[in-house]
Amino acid sequence: MKTKYAIVFICIVALVIIEKESNILSRVSDKLIQRQSPKHTPQTPLDYSNTTQKGSLMVFKMLLSKLSGTKGNYSEEQEEEELGDLGAYNYSAGRKHILLMATTRTGSSFVGEFFNQHGENMFYLFEPLWHVERMLTTSPEANNGTVLAGIYRDVLQGLFLCDFSRLEKFISPPPQDHVTPALFRRESSLSLCDEPVCTPVIKDVFERYHCKTRRCGPLNLTLASQSCLSKQHHAIKTVRVRQLDTLQPLVEDPRLDIRVIQLVRDPRAILASRMVAFSSKYQTWKAWAQDGQVPEDDEEVRRLKGNCDHIRMSAEVGLSQPRWLRSRYMLVRYEDIARYPMQKAEEMYRFTGIPFSSQAREWILRNTQTTQEASGIYSTQKNSSEQAEKWRFSIPFTLAQVVQRVCGPTMKLFGYRFVDDEKTLINKSISLLEDKLFH
Ligand SMILES: *[C@@H]1O[C@H](CO)[C@@H](O)[C@H](O)[C@H]1NC(C)=O
Ligand SMILES: *[C@@H]1O[C@H](CO)[C@@H](O)[C@H](O)[C@H]1NC(C)=O
Ligand SMILES: *[C@@H]1O[C@H](CO)[C@@H](O)[C@H](O)[C@H]1NC(C)=O
Ligand SMILES: *[C@@H]1O[C@H](CO)[C@@H](O)[C@H](O)[C@H]1NC(C)=O
Ligand SMILES: *[C@@H]1O[C@H](CO)[C@@H](O)[C@H](O)[C@H]1NC(C)=O
Ligand SMILES: *[C@@H]1O[C@H](CO)[C@@H](O)[C@H](O)[C@H]1NC(C)=O
Repeated sequence: MKTKYAIVFICIVALVIIEKESNILSRVSDKLIQRQSPKHTPQTPLDYSNTTQKGSLMVFKMLLSKLSGTKGNYSEEQEEEELGDLGAYNYSAGRKHILLMATTRTGSSFVGEFFNQHGENMFYLFEPLWHVERMLTTSPEANNGTVLAGIYRDVLQGLFLCDFSRLEKFISPPPQDHVTPALFRRESSLSLCDEPVCTPVIKDVFERYHCKTRRCGPLNLTLASQSCLSKQHHAIKTVRVRQLDTLQPLVEDPRLDIRVIQLVRDPRAILASRMVAFSSKYQTWKAWAQDGQVPEDDEEVRRLKGNCDHIRMSAEVGLSQPRWLRSRYMLVRYEDIARYPMQKAEEMYRFTGIPFSSQAREWILRNTQTTQEASGIYSTQKNSSEQAEKWRFSIPFTLAQVVQRVCGPTMKLFGYRFVDDEKTLINKSISLLEDKLFH
C-alpha cells in the first residue's frame, strides 16, 4: 500500500515538473484527463530537439505504467490504450518514414505514386499540410515563416507516428467524432480508400462518395490511424516545407527513421508550367512577356527569387551531409525521372531501404509506357522526356532570361544550362541538362 502512495506521489511531482517544460507531455496528459472534452486549443510549434524533454516523457510513461500495474491486471495493451495512439505505435525495426519534399509543378504527385502504389505495407498521405496552410496563412500571427515551419514539422511528426490529432485541429469544418468528409485529396491515398478505412455509404443516394474507385463514406480518422499503425512503411508528400533545416528535430526523433527525397526541376520549366496551370495568377508575367520589360524589384520577381533560394538552400544543406541528415537525404531531378523513370524509382527505393515492389514497378510501366526490352527495363522514355522539354516552346525568352538572372545559383547547382538567345532555347538538339550525380 505504501509503495502505491509513493508511486502516486512521485508521479504527481513528476507531472508538475515535466509539465512546465514539455508541451508534448501536456498533450498526452490532456488526453488522459479530458478524454470527454476534446476542446481544441491553438497549437504552438514544439521543439522536439530537447532530449531532456524526451527523457522526461519516458520517465513519465514508466511511472504511469507502474501506477496502472498496482491496479492489478496490468498488461502491455492497457498502457497502450492509456497513452493513446503514440503509445500504441509499433516501434518495429525496419519501419521507414519517407518525406517527399517538393514544390508545385515538379512532378511530385507522380513521384508520390511510386510510393503510394507500393502495396499492402505502405501508408501514404498526399499533401496533408494543405489544411494547415489554408487555416494559418490567413491568420496574421501565424503568418511567420518560423512559426509556420514549426507547426508543419509538428503535424508531420504526428502523422508519421499515425497520430492524426494534430492535423485534425486544422481540418475545416472540424471533424465530428474524428470523422470528416473534408480531408484534402483523400482519394490520392490508396490506404485511405482501401478496406478497412473505406466505410460503407449508408446515407441516401445524394451523398458524395469520397473515393474514386470505391463508394466510401466520410473518413473515420480513428480507422485511418489504425490502418497507419498496421502498415510497415509511411510516406508523405508535401510541397509546403520550405527549408530542409527546419525538419532537423523531426529527422532526429528516435522513434522515426526518416528519409527525405527532395524533388527539383528547372525553374524556367516551373514558371512555364505555372503560367499554364495557374493562368489567372500569372497575368502579370504574361503582360511582361508582351512588353518585353520586367521590373526587377517587383514583388512577383522577388517571390520567384525567394522560392529558388529556399530550394537551393535546402539542397545545399542536404548535399553537405550534416551529421543529422547523413544517408537520409536524396536529391532527384524531375528531368531525370522523365528520362529514366524506372531506374530512378529503383534508386529511390534503394535509398529508402524499402523493397521495390512488383506493384510499384507495374504502375510505373503502365504510366510511363516504358518499353520492356530484352536489354532491360531501363529504356529511355522518349515521350515523357519530350513532355519534360515542352516548356522550352511555351516560355517567352524574356521570361527565361529573368529566371536565369534571379535563379542563377539554383540552376547552376542542379545542372541546368543557361541560354543566351531564343534560338538556343527552342533548339531541341541542344540539351539544357547537364548530366550530374548528386551525392
Ligand atoms: C532542454 O530544456 C531544458 C529546460 O527547458 C534546458 O535547461 C536545457 O538546456 C535544454 N537542453 C537542450 C539540449 O537544449
Ligand atoms: C517570427 O517568429 C519568431 C519566433 O517567434 C520571431 O523571432 C520572429 O521575429 C518573427 N518574425 C516576424 C517577421 O515576425
Ligand atoms: C470510427 O472507427 C472507430 C474504430 O473502429 C469506431 O470505434 C468509431 O465508432 C468510428 N466512428 C464513427 C463516428 O463511426
Ligand atoms: C509490429 O510491426 C511488425 C512489422 O510490421 C509486425 O510484424 C508486428 O507483428 C507488429 N507488432 C505489433 C505488436 O503490432
Ligand atoms: C509516344 O506517343 C505516341 C502517341 O502519342 C505513340 O504513338 C508512341 O508509340 C509513343 N512512343 C513511345 C516510345 O512510347
Ligand atoms: C541546333 O543546334 C545544333 C547543334 O548546335 C546545330 O547544329 C543546328 O544548326 C541548330 N539548329 C538550328 C535550327 O539552329
